Amino acid sequence: MSSAESPLTTSEAPQYFIGLMSGTSLDAIDTVICTIDSANNFSLLYSETYPIPDQIKKDLLTLSQKQQANELDQYAKLDVQMGHLFADCCLHLLAKNNLKPEQICAIGSHGQTLRHYPENQYPTTLQIGDPNIIAHSTGITTIADFRRKDMAAGGQGAPLVPPFHQALFKDINNEINRVVVNIGGIANITFLPASSDGVLGYDTGPGNGLMDDWCIQHFNCAYDPSGSYAALGKVDSNLLTLLLSDPFLAQKAPKSTGREYFSYQWIKIHLKQAQYEINPLDVLTTLLELTCLSISNEVSSLRPAVSELLVCGGGVKNTLLMQRLQELMPEVSVSSTEKHGLHPDWVEASAFAWLAHQTLNGLTANLPSVTGARNKVILGAIWQA
Ligand SMILES: Nc1ncnc2c1ncn2[C@@H]1O[C@H](COP(=O)(O)OP(=O)(O)O)[C@@H](O)[C@H]1O
Ligand SMILES: [Mg+2]
Repeated sequence: MSSAESPLTTSEAPQYFIGLMSGTSLDAIDTVICTIDSANNFSLLYSETYPIPDQIKKDLLTLSQKQQANELDQYAKLDVQMGHLFADCCLHLLAKNNLKPEQICAIGSHGQTLRHYPENQYPTTLQIGDPNIIAHSTGITTIADFRRKDMAAGGQGAPLVPPFHQALFKDINNEINRVVVNIGGIANITFLPASSDGVLGYDTGPGNGLMDDWCIQHFNCAYDPSGSYAALGKVDSNLLTLLLSDPFLAQKAPKSTGREYFSYQWIKIHLKQAQYEINPLDVLTTLLELTCLSISNEVSSLRPAVSELLVCGGGVKNTLLMQRLQELMPEVSVSSTEKHGLHPDWVEASAFAWLAHQTLNGLTANLPSVTGARNKVILGAIWQA
């Protein structure tokens, strides 16, 4: 477990929000405690990652792939297991910070995504981690199932973080055209133009996920530390062309995707199309180039032209990836969100605490320009303690 210490006040009045985020990388559960005041001012007070037990991780990975045996029973079991795990995270946060449940206004729990099908005939998305268990075990009002109300309104149900990025990172002097990119398993961007309200946000394609899958299969590690393996290989331009021809990358926004699409299987299909053996290091370097190009191509196409790119998510720790993003966009200043006061590891979990605050206060939080929804809606549902 890693954590950042911060003293919290012990006043009895409810004043804190908890945010829980478990992304598609399945590396850990990110947890935060924060305050959000009536003027929507956000302060992060405490943050910590909470481990996912190996067996649960293995089962989640298996169930993330389609057509597994006994899918429905496995789903029902993992929904309960993840509910308990999320509740344990919150109880741990309370104990560590000497807080009582009555001091927490609400928990915002994203849940663990198993399926995301925004383009199906019957669009749906599935995040597990039973909120009944979280609310009952912690004694804290829990807000979850954030994505499906937006889908019910005709949206993609994703991405949902752009309004939080807007609240935190929009240039208050209305001078800088800024993009925030979250590089988790999948990468998503938020465009915050300086002078207008025209916020855009969508998934650009793979983040670290394909590289992680390749490292697990070929280098016996969960990810490429700082990009050190990718630094040893070279881009295979033929394979890169094949990967870049994926239709999702050319699709116009709004668009969202998931690990069930950009999967190890996806890499294998393209390697087969290449019809020759490629050194595993070169495949990894090519996957890194794919992630960087699919982000930089989108950022470079935005108007008015972007001058600042703030990166968050685990991708920030891949030094080679950060270097390559800067090289591909020399006219853009590339840095992490820490430059604007929020450490890149905690942006996503913070966003779900913020979204919980919106829902609890009856405020809409989806951006139709981002998700494609017909109208603004209050996201998620509330499970009373
Ligand atoms: N030291 C590191 N070097 C390179 N990549 C890293 C490092 N630490 C974490 N990562 C990458 O960050 C990913 C986790 O990022 P995260 O933002 O938590 O993604 P998600 O939201 O999908 O869980 C890991 O799977 C890995 O690819
Ligand atoms: Mg993560």
